[in-house]
Amino acid sequence: MRILFICSEYEGLIKTGGLADACRGLASSLLAAGHQVSVILPRYGSLYQVPTRGEQSVFVDLGGKRFGCAVRQTEVAGVTVYLVEHHDFYARARPYDDGAQGYPDNPLRFAFFCKAVLQWCTTQPAFDVLHGHDWQTAPAAFYLANYYRQQPELAATPFVFTIHNGAYQQQSAPDWAAQLDLPSHGNSVNFLQIALQYATKINTVSQGYRDELLTEPAANGLAAWYQQRREDFSGILNGCDYQLWNPATDTALPANYDAADLAGKATCKQQLQQQYQLAEAGLPLMVAVSRVTGQKGYDIMIPALKYLLANYPLQVIVVGSGEAHYCQQLHQLTVTFPDKFRFIEGFNEQLAHQVEAAGDFFLMPSLFEPCGLNQLYSLRYGSLPLVRLTGGLKDTVVPWPDNKATGIGFVEPTPEALLEALRQALTLYQDKSAYKKVQQCAMAQNFSWTAAFEQYLALYQQAVQTLVSKQ
Ligand code: ADP
Ligand code: GLC
Repeated sequence: MRILFICSEYEGLIKTGGLADACRGLASSLLAAGHQVSVILPRYGSLYQVPTRGEQSVFVDLGGKRFGCAVRQTEVAGVTVYLVEHHDFYARARPYDDGAQGYPDNPLRFAFFCKAVLQWCTTQPAFDVLHGHDWQTAPAAFYLANYYRQQPELAATPFVFTIHNGAYQQQSAPDWAAQLDLPSHGNSVNFLQIALQYATKINTVSQGYRDELLTEPAANGLAAWYQQRREDFSGILNGCDYQLWNPATDTALPANYDAADLAGKATCKQQLQQQYQLAEAGLPLMVAVSRVTGQKGYDIMIPALKYLLANYPLQVIVVGSGEAHYCQQLHQLTVTFPDKFRFIEGFNEQLAHQVEAAGDFFLMPSLFEPCGLNQLYSLRYGSLPLVRLTGGLKDTVVPWPDNKATGIGFVEPTPEALLEALRQALTLYQDKSAYKKVQQCAMAQNFSWTAAFEQYLALYQQAVQTLVSKQ
């Protein structure tokens, strides 16, 4: 099939979280299976260093004004990536925010992106399917249905929409509607709601999260819309890109290893301890790598860690960047427990790999988790995921003491429940053979993109059929 991904992140070019990994993983697997897949995203400031080919001018009418942009071309691992260049909108240091707050003109930036993509599509051979990812691409569903259906190149092209995170909706005041050529609903223009209404098919990144989105509070006010599209709304679990996340070949690691020989994992742990001046005392090392936001469970993790660090022998390393109030508390933990705790603030992809490899346990006490990729990486790297059993985490981690356990799990979103799970982890770690059994089971898991991309292909076919039967 000829598929265009419309997205706002792509691993290897721009990444703030798992969206980038998922877009690349799926695109790579579709390409490997012989499909023609290309990707289009905004040319952010950091992408001006990326060499490009070609320059096509595209003009877009939006809210009664005319805007121009250029579309250039680059390539990531064989996949053609088109970059929409508009200096004022995208040539900023970060994609969505200034580090503290979302850019106030985000509705305009991403509405423009969507219209520019569709306008550009009218100059290309027809795509069989357009596949949008998250709120940044949601307006394309409306523009396609209302402004571009008459264009021969888009007359028969469905729009498949994947929700990677339903908590980010991009809501703005209704007076934005005219400027964006979008409908308002109730007292706001809600990008996510628009996609739920106008996309041909909708899916999210695990079955568990799909079911959660059908009811409040998980749906963040949109449950009625998810229910209305129930027949067109599915869950497809993300895969793990084992080309990029494989401890046997990972070039970011000081030593490689696999399930049969874990010597390299011990080296990875030692090196990380040395690098961050933690003693190599045979203590369990718990790690986390994440966006530092409420979603990732910092409200329960910080109090639980405070108690744990004060009372138990262990080490903890957290790598992340995000909300300042959590970061301050994490820095404070480093000050209070200098022998046991480190918070490394920042976004560092190489370190993320090293930390995955060094950990004995990987902490992911998320309040909600559409899929989660870090627990999949942790399974393969033998860092047992300790997760709250929600969304995609529940679908991918089997909690100890199940005979087929691959990690530790807990349910209640409270510091007490998390602390109990952390205690379980310490107990398991004491029993070397039990720990080893869980670790082997974890490392043997296979969440490759092969299963996922076949489900996406089926979804694309259904979307094509849906459109045909409507016409
Ligand atoms: P989410 O998409 O909600 O952030 P995922 O688990 O799906 O959660 O994916 C997170 C991705 O972002 C992983 O690849 C992870 O390694 C990466 N990541 C998150 N925070 C950082 C960071 N501070 N430095 C490097 N990589 C990070
Ligand atoms: C989102 C979700 C995460 C998911 C990722 C990729 O950022 O928070 O759970 O794994 O997208 O789909």
